[in-house]
Parts: sequence; structure tokens; C-alpha cells
Amino acid sequence: MADPVNLVAIVLAAGQGKRMRSGLPKVLHRLAGRPLVQHVLDTVRGLGASDTLVVVGYGADRVRAETDADVRWVLQDEQLGTGHAVAQALPFVDENAITLVLYGDVPLISASTLSACAAAAGDGALAVVTAEVDDPAELGRIRRSAAGEIEAIVEFSDASPEERTIREINTGIMALRAGELKELLAEVEPANSQGEYYLTDVVSQAVARGIPVAGVRVSDPDEARGVNDRVELAALERIYQRREARRLLLGGAGMADPERVEIRGEVTAGEDCFIDINVVLAGRVKLGAGVRLGAGVVIEDSVLGDGVEVEPHTVVQGAKVAAGCRLGPFARIRPGTELGEDVRIGNFVETKKARLGRGTKASHLAYLGDAELGEECNVGAGTVTCNYDGENKHRTEVGDDVFLGTNSSLVAPLEVESGAFIAAGSTITAKVERGELAVERSKQRNIKGWTRPGRRKGKE
Ligand code: UD1
Ligand code: CA
Repeated sequence: MADPVNLVAIVLAAGQGKRMRSGLPKVLHRLAGRPLVQHVLDTVRGLGASDTLVVVGYGADRVRAETDADVRWVLQDEQLGTGHAVAQALPFVDENAITLVLYGDVPLISASTLSACAAAAGDGALAVVTAEVDDPAELGRIRRSAAGEIEAIVEFSDASPEERTIREINTGIMALRAGELKELLAEVEPANSQGEYYLTDVVSQAVARGIPVAGVRVSDPDEARGVNDRVELAALERIYQRREARRLLLGGAGMADPERVEIRGEVTAGEDCFIDINVVLAGRVKLGAGVRLGAGVVIEDSVLGDGVEVEPHTVVQGAKVAAGCRLGPFARIRPGTELGEDVRIGNFVETKKARLGRGTKASHLAYLGDAELGEECNVGAGTVTCNYDGENKHRTEVGDDVFLGTNSSLVAPLEVESGAFIAAGSTITAKVERGELAVERSKQRNIKGWTRPGRRKGKE
């Protein structure tokens, strides 16, 4: 490309998506946990566009609220077609900018394809991204002349039987200088089977005016896939998941079955990780080298250090887990948990906003919330931090090498100093100092000569 051109992206997201049969606007349906339109916006972010305009209409407020992007919103009150949608945004675009049009329901389009499209438009053409597919279904067909030049895009519902055999399709993505696009769109009429203003009609208009039309082929036809119904969405989800699994496998992570791992976010995995079946990784997840995730584990927005082992059916959210920890099975690690090296969290243990120092163990049945425990502590089964008084949350602070006996209730705010020992069954309400033994329970009485109740006659 010669000069750096001013690039503006227009993303179409105003349609209802009737074939989804859903109250949710189509572009908000989720692919790998993110709304369809979010995928498009995330890809656009890398292009260096000076402005991104998103055309919304059906469920506009919801689309605005549920997407995360620095964009300008344009309202299309009535959805009169893709050409009409683009026309709503063009008044906000500088005439000389290269306008890149994207569809909110074509989420896998790659940044490299988009750059190639913008570059072709920068050279003065109307650039149209096309794909050669095995099953062109009901997509718009690219009609070429005998010499191979693009002549027109023919929508499926308007196509002749012969045109329907064409396997090169319109992805919906195109680019042109804004001024020219404006002029071409002004001539588009809704003279077609659907009575809509088709963006695709600008192609034949461009040909008529002698504007060169450049076809930009996607390298992978899957990029071109759109979502019109839930079958297509499910197919896209599979494609996405296979790509992600492949990426992790190539990076050195092993998987029991790459078809049964779900990746819904930005996930990185170190070498020699092992991921068992039905694991869900969501949000930002970083797995160190040699991490092992058991069957049915869910990890969300968390960092796991080298060699961490997570046993089956454990849920980890918003946590930092240092190297060598062992979690689960059936543990629940909630946001704000920070575990030092070699911590052991066993079955039916819940942690929330809790920091546990190196080597501390809570092997079974405990709740540690709003708590800080030092190194090498032992948390007995049934230990509970009583952090909530019905109105406010309070903190529990425990030093190093503390023994919390079975069934201790730690009523916060509370401090237990290093080396202290809490006897089983104690309800601790006052500070325990260094090295002390705290016992809070009534003395055991053994009643001699006691007779056990006999079974009453006639009772089963
Ligand atoms: C469109 C193309 C078709 C192409 C296909 C690729 C047209 C006329 N047809 O067909 O050639 O093969 O995409 O997936 O462009 N939208 C609006 N406002 C409207 C209408 C649509 O914002 O008034 C948005 C939708 O929300 C959607 C996108 O534009 O994100 C595409 O609309 P859709 O109705 O799905 O077009 P297709 O029939 O799939
Ligand atoms: Ca579509």
C-alpha cells in the first residue's frame, strides 16, 4: 500500500435473526462464550481503524450493553436491508476513508483477510471477500464473466438454477472509499424478491461505472461461515473449539479427547499439561507447565503455576494458584483466592478471598472466606470461618504452622497467631496468641450405669 489510508470499519448488527427463533438479538448469541459481534469487534480492533461504527436496531440497547468495545453506535430503526444499514453509518464517515463493511454474524473472519480487503480498496477497487465452499447453501453467489471478472453478487432467493450451482460465495465483507460507496448505495433499489436494499447490489453498480472490482479469497473457507440459525451456530462452535484444541495440542498440552474440551476465552497452556475430558476453560486462563486437569474441571479467569494438579469436578474462578498445589476432587475455589506453593485443598472445601501460605492443607470439608492463613497450617475437616454477621464481612487472620482442629468455628474478626493450636469442636471468638492451645467446649461427662431405652412392643 502507498500512503497509510484512513480506515473506518462498519459492522452490521441490526438484524433480529428470525431463524434463530430467539428473543435474543442474533449477534448476541454466544460463540465460545463471547457474543458473535464481539468476535468481529475483537478482530477489527487489531486493524488500526480510526473509527468503528456498529449499526444496531433490533434489541439495540441490549447489543450496546452486552458488547465491550470502543465504538460509535448508529441506529437503524427499521431493518430494510444490508445496503440501507451501511447507508445509516456513512454520513459519519470521511469521504476519503476506506470503508470496511463487516457483518456481525460472520465471526471467524481473520485479521489478515480484512487487511487484504482494505488494501485492495486502498488501491482504488471495490474489494469483495469471497470464499469457495463445498456447500454454498443460501449464501449470495459471486457471478463472474467469461474472462473471470466479478460482475455481480446474486442473492440466493433471486438466483437462477444455474447461478445456484456457483460455489464461490459472498462473505458479506467488502471495502471501498466512502465517497464512492455513498454514491453507489444511493442508486440501490429494493427491486428484489425480499424487497430489501441489498449492499451486494453495489457490485453490479461499480461494474457499470467502471470501478474495478477485486475479489479477495479467504484462505480458509471456515472464515466465511455465517450464523443464521442454531445449527450453523453449533457447527461454528465446533470449528472454533477444534482450532483452539489444536493450538493447545501443538503448544505441547496433551488432551484425553480434543473434542471434549471447551475453551471459552484466552487460554494458554505450558508444555506437558494434561487436560482430561469435559474440562471448561473460560475467560483468561494461564496454565503453567505440567498442569493436570481432571475430568469435569472448570477453570475461569485464573492462573495456575507449574505442576498444579486439579482433580475431577473442581471449580476454580478468579484465583492465583502457585506451583505444586493440589486441588480437589470436588473443591470450589472462588474469586480472590491466592494459594502459595504446595497448598493442598481437598474435597468439599470452599475458599473465597482467601490467601493460604505455602504448604497449608485443607484436605476436606471446610469454608475459608475473607481469610489469610500463613504457611504450613493444617485446616481440619469442618473448619469454618464465620465471616458474615448478617450485615458485614469480617476477616480471619491466621499465622504460620497453626493447627485448626476439626469442626472449629472461627468467628471473625479474629486473629490466631503462629504456632497456635485450636482444639476440635471449638468456637473461637477471641484472639489466640502464639503457641497457645485454645479449647472451647464443655467437658465430656460419662454417665455410668445408664440404661439404653428398650424397644417398645408392637413397633416395627
Ligand atoms: C448476506 C448477504 C449475502 C452473503 C451473506 C454472508 C446481502 C443482501 N446478502 O446475506 O450475499 O452471502 O450475508 O453471510 O447483504 N443487517 C442489518 N440491517 C439490516 C439487515 C441486516 O444490520 O437491515 C445485518 C444483520 O444483523 C447481519 C448482517 O447484516 O449481521 C447480514 O444480514 P443477513 O440478513 O443475515 O444477510 P444474509 O441473508 O445472511
Ligand atoms: Ca447472515
